[in-house]
Parts: sequence; structure tokens; C-alpha cells
Amino acid sequence: MAAEKWVYMVTAQTPTNIAVIKYWGKRDEVRILPVNDSISVTLDPDHLCTVTTVAVSPSFDRDRMWLNGKEISLSGSRYQNCLREIRGRAGDVEDKEKGVKIEKKDWEKLHLHIASHNNFPTAAGLASSAAGFACLVFSLAKLMNVDEDPSHLSAIARQGSGSACRSLFGGFVKWEMGNKEDGSDSVAVQLADEKHWNDLVIIIAVVSSRQKETSSTSGMRESVETSLLLQHRAKEVVPKRTLQMEEAIKNRDFASFTQLSCADSNQFHAVCLDTSPPIFYMNDTSHRIISLVEKWNRSEGTPQVAYTFDAGPNAVLIARNRKVAIQLLQGLLYYFPPKSDTDMKSYVVGDNSILKEAGLDGANSVENLQPPPEIKDNIGSQDQKGEVSYFICTKPGRGPVVLPDQTQALLDPETGLPK
Ligand code: DP6
Repeated sequence: MAAEKWVYMVTAQTPTNIAVIKYWGKRDEVRILPVNDSISVTLDPDHLCTVTTVAVSPSFDRDRMWLNGKEISLSGSRYQNCLREIRGRAGDVEDKEKGVKIEKKDWEKLHLHIASHNNFPTAAGLASSAAGFACLVFSLAKLMNVDEDPSHLSAIARQGSGSACRSLFGGFVKWEMGNKEDGSDSVAVQLADEKHWNDLVIIIAVVSSRQKETSSTSGMRESVETSLLLQHRAKEVVPKRTLQMEEAIKNRDFASFTQLSCADSNQFHAVCLDTSPPIFYMNDTSHRIISLVEKWNRSEGTPQVAYTFDAGPNAVLIARNRKVAIQLLQGLLYYFPPKSDTDMKSYVVGDNSILKEAGLDGANSVENLQPPPEIKDNIGSQDQKGEVSYFICTKPGRGPVVLPDQTQALLDPETGLPK
């Protein structure tokens, strides 16, 4: 490796994921090993994703990272653990055209520049660390020619943030808790790809919240220390539920999928209440959305929509198909209309072609909407303006990919600095 001026880089895109069987509680805080298995749905990266560019050059004097345009410190143990693990697996890299030749042993001395960007606002309270750490590990593995399958990479991403390990795959993913002390068997595996169950439509209600929530990391630590319900959940409930959820996904059994997802979300929030001092992640709006969905599901006789809530008030609603999603959106917009100065296209984002199908793309306004008759009069009238900041319409999506188009890179190919 001569002292040349080259900058060698890779850009990748990684999705975020939503757990339908929740991870809540660690048995090892450093290695990030969970107390139970969890299962998630990967969300379409066209609507929610992280893009990361990683670069290496003999001219870089230290590791540096920029997140959403702002330089951040890499000194935290989670970043350091990921960087150390991935460097330890680096291989030889050669790009004759660029005059790049890096031998395995060189990686210890070479420094990295990392730029990462989320295509959704961080303030939305959507799990950005999952996509972020998954993308960091995936893009570095490509840059460094790491010869490991996605499950092995998931064990590295896990050390950045637990839920990140599930973002190494598309579709439906299980994080196996494992039982080895070193965590080598605590990995994510794909249960089914995104095409397996492509009728599903996911609508996320980004719920306005005034309070700063307890972070997942400290919330789950407090639950492990104080909640007896968490112990019961991890030992007795989740092992059975995980098997049932795997079956439900395999058979595309929406009734069972809904029953399990809703029960698991509710139990996770019950564990939060059982924590001392109690943690409140959902708010009145979240509860109103649950009532709406529960009432509708019951009146239909068979479940139409599943709900799940993470460590915040946002509702993730999974509709059994597009027709149901249109009705759901109409109901949601009836009860949670946009503020008068907000236009519909910025109130429903992501795949907003659904607006047209719901008859809401043009002059038609929400004032003309009628909710499904079954849920009418249940949750009050249209006085909830502003309770929902916006809706994101999406679907199950693919896993990480390399973006070969240089124009999508976040670092300048000459300087290795943010563009
Ligand atoms: C409620 O993965 O954010 O979203 O491992 O401490 O980084 P750390 O926690 P994190 O926790 C996610 C918790 C959850 C449930 C889930 O995604 O399974």
C-alpha cells in the first residue's frame, strides 16, 4: 500500500423494521444479548431507510462520522464494538482501475469516514438506530470485503443496537436470542422474504408528543431490574408466542398474526407499566387508535388490522390488504384530520398513491369522509386535529442493498468529506 491519494468508498441502503414480537430486556448489556426471541417485519426502504457511505483512504488521519449532515463522535462503546468486530473480519481489496490495493493487515492502520442519512425525520421517533447500525455494518462489510453471511453480520449490528440485527434481512425476520455467553448464536434469520406476504399494507401514524420519552436502552434496563411481569413474559409467554407467530407468518394467517401482534404490543406496554417507576410510552391518541382498530376488528368478526407500538406513541397499523388499508386510512383521516394549513400530500406520505384510491387526492376533502359505520361514535368526533403529525403508508420491504450509483454517495469521491 503506497501513500497514494485515492479514496475508496461504498454506499448502501438499509431498511428499518417493526417488531411484532418485541425485544425488551437484555441479559448482557455489553454484548447486547436479549432475554427473549423477537420477530419483526422489515419496512419498505423506499419510504423508511438509512443510506450510509463509508470511505477509506491513506490520507484520512482518524475515523470520523457524520449523521444527517452533523459530525458525531465515534467514541461510544457501541460504535467502537462494531468497528472492531468488522475490522477483525476484513479481507483483501483491490480495485486496479483506481489503483487501490489493501491487504487484510492494512485495515488496522487505515481510517474510515462514514456519512449516514435517514430518509425520515429523526424527530418522528421512528427507530432510526436499527436501520443506522445495520447500514453501518453492511456498508463496512462491503467496503472491507468481509466474507460473512447476513446472519453473521447481524451479530455485529446487534452490538450497535439490538433491533438493528433484524434489519440485515428483508421480509419477516426472527432474532434468535441464543444461549452462548459470547453471543455468537444471538443472530437474526429470515423467516420469509418480502414477496411471501405482499398483500399487507402498513400505515404508521406519527403521533404528536410533547414529552421526551425514556430511551429503549434505559427503559428496558429498568424493566429488567424491577418488573416481575418481564420475567414471566420472557420465560413463559414469548417462547410459545414466537412459535405461533412463525406459523402465522408461514401460513399467511392474518387472524392469528393480528391476535399475536396486538397481544404482544399490549404486553410490552404492560411490562413498562409494571416497571418501577412506571414508563408510559403510549398516550391518549395511541389509546384512541387502539380502540378504533379493536372495535372495527370485532365488528367485522375477523381481524382486518393489526396494531403495534414501540417505545413511543406512534401506531404501526398493518392492514390485511389494500382494500382494508383504504378504509382504514379513511377512518383515520376522519378522526385525525390534518390541520387546516396542511395539505393532504404532506399529511399522508410514503406510498401516497393510496390517497387517490381513497378518493382524497383532489378537491375532495376530509370533511366529506364517513368512517366505517361500525366504529362511528366510538372515539369521539373530528376534534382531534393535530394529534397525528402525519401518516406514512408503506409495506413489507427488502433487505440491505449496495447503491452502485455514485451520485447517491454522501461523501465526495475526491476528498472523502460530506458532499
Ligand atoms: C421497543 O434496539 O432500540 O423497539 O438494544 O438498547 O439499542 P438497544 O435497544 P433498541 O430497542 C428496541 C425496543 C423496541 C422493540 C423491538 O424493536 O423489538
